[in-house]
Amino acid sequence: MANSCVSLVLLLFTLLLGHGFFQLEASQNICRNIHTSQQTCSDQPYRTSYHFQPLMNWMNAPMIYKGIYHLFYQYNPQGAVWDPSIVWAHSTSTDLINWIPHDPAMYPSQRSDINGCWSGSATILPGGEPAILYTGIASENTQVQNLVLPKNSSDPYLLEWVKSAENPLMEPPENVDPSSFRDPSTAWLGPDGTWRVVIGSELQDKGLVFLYRSKDFVNWTRAEQPLHSVEGTGIWECPDFFPVSTDSLIGIDTSKTGPNIKHVIKASLFDTKFDCYIIGTYDVTTDKFIPEAGSIDKVSGLRYDYGKFYASKLFFDSAKNRRILWAWINESSSEADDIKKGWSGLQAIPRSLWLDKSGKQLVQWPIAEIEMLRGHQVEWSSKFLEEGSVLEVTGITAAQADVEISFEITEFEKAEVLDSSWTNPQLLCSQLGASVKGAIGPFGLLVLASKDLQEYTAVFFRNIQRPEQICSAHVQSSLHADNDKATYGAFLDVDPVHEKLSLRSLIDHSIVESFGAGGKACITARVYPTLAIDEEAHLYAFNYGNEKVKITSLSAWSMKQARINEIIQQEDQHTLMDS
Ligand SMILES: *[C@@H]1O[C@H](CO)[C@@H](O)[C@H](O)[C@H]1NC(C)=O
Ligand SMILES: *[C@@H]1O[C@H](CO)[C@@H](O)[C@H](O)[C@H]1NC(C)=O
Ligand SMILES: *[C@@H]1O[C@H](CO)[C@@H](O)[C@H](O)[C@H]1NC(C)=O
Repeated sequence: MANSCVSLVLLLFTLLLGHGFFQLEASQNICRNIHTSQQTCSDQPYRTSYHFQPLMNWMNAPMIYKGIYHLFYQYNPQGAVWDPSIVWAHSTSTDLINWIPHDPAMYPSQRSDINGCWSGSATILPGGEPAILYTGIASENTQVQNLVLPKNSSDPYLLEWVKSAENPLMEPPENVDPSSFRDPSTAWLGPDGTWRVVIGSELQDKGLVFLYRSKDFVNWTRAEQPLHSVEGTGIWECPDFFPVSTDSLIGIDTSKTGPNIKHVIKASLFDTKFDCYIIGTYDVTTDKFIPEAGSIDKVSGLRYDYGKFYASKLFFDSAKNRRILWAWINESSSEADDIKKGWSGLQAIPRSLWLDKSGKQLVQWPIAEIEMLRGHQVEWSSKFLEEGSVLEVTGITAAQADVEISFEITEFEKAEVLDSSWTNPQLLCSQLGASVKGAIGPFGLLVLASKDLQEYTAVFFRNIQRPEQICSAHVQSSLHADNDKATYGAFLDVDPVHEKLSLRSLIDHSIVESFGAGGKACITARVYPTLAIDEEAHLYAFNYGNEKVKITSLSAWSMKQARINEIIQQEDQHTLMDS
């Protein structure tokens, strides 16, 4: 059934009952993962329990150094909204789940960053020491690239950083808008002993990454040709350029080139807030990248995640030989709501990332460490979901859970055949929601659901047959009037005879991260339930399709709270680091 496709559809439907946004206390009353106590706060229903979440953040440079994971993130000490004079906050971890806060690593201080220290990336130099290139905002909003190095590289926590006296190292090219030149990637070292790095930019409306080369990491020269550019895509932010193995799931060092390797360019498209990627081959001697699969495209490019997911960064985890993808997840509420609740933005659960065996897309899966937070487990063996049925999964904390479910469909030849004009999965899904009956599907999960199903978020599949392998997915939402009510969708290319039709959702109060078919299509949504809060949240499996479907297995776990940026005693700190 090569031309049968299954769509992962994520529907988000929350009914609002009359009242407006909750009256929330400001930042002094942040609960869950800020306080040491395990209590939750009724006035902070949307605070998460196991996602990294400071007051306001935006991704910077994740890395591992001497066995310690570092997250530098953009942080506004003044409040819950973005401000250009942002600083680099710093937290460390031994497991990417529990985090210890440190003093900010960097403040605006030089002429080359006096108006802000923006995004950057870490590179591990051949001697093992890290170097960070970052964007500084100089006078008149001119964006330049700067270098910062650890003061004492014997310190695994890298608490102090020293900016290079040579800054700025890269200034906007003459024909480029000086406010559109930012976000250096991790650098890679060619066999010729020359470093390369890409910087996100645009020329007119052509999005692109400039390529720079350097022998010493300080004196950088721009290559004549950008590494890649696409007309009409607007500015590219937070670009990454990295190798993936074609014959193994393990991650490889950013500087690795050679046989059995493809390269990926990823760009965060500011105009549509999509993290798109393109897979191709890279010749390090000519610095030519030849695209093979995907595209950087404002509407239809291949994406890491088809929901809310932006400004992601990658790093090579040399301790576990994996490549880790980590994204910043914006709120879907208004800025006024963010100010009221006193925080905004969080980090997705870090994901391992590798090339699919088809070579045509990447696959992602939450890092194994997240499973240490799994508590009480509920399991179902095989069970049929009849037409129109809704079965509750009881016995776990449904507002804070990890759920894995697998389905088997037999009569897939009955799947709907869609008009070939349907090429936009998000649009398709906004029309074919969870309540629109199909032949096979919609079936899946109702998460963060109220008891009477007045509100819920549906994450589901719809089986579609098409001559070209295309399927769909979406999220619909009817939240507070000023919330972003986007519907999300993705085509998921699954062979239902040979592949498991599985879904995993990580649910954490106001975020649902879903992974279809083992991570071939991912959709992250922000949800702000008004009824399904804490103990009032329920979890269901459902099938609104005309054909029954079989659940081959279901495992659901209550998730424990992670220790994130707790202010803890020195002694505890050592226990945490040792454990
Ligand atoms: C550098 O860090 C190491 C390890 O934390 C520490 O022992 C040493 O005293 C530090 N050196 C300086 C000059 O601070
Ligand atoms: C910087 O590198 C370029 C290209 O390799 C070279 O021409 C130039 O002399 C170098 N400048 C300095 C100050 O070293
Ligand atoms: C964050 O989300 C809000 C609400 O959906 C939106 O208005 C804003 O543009 C988003 N910002 C970024 C940087 O993604």
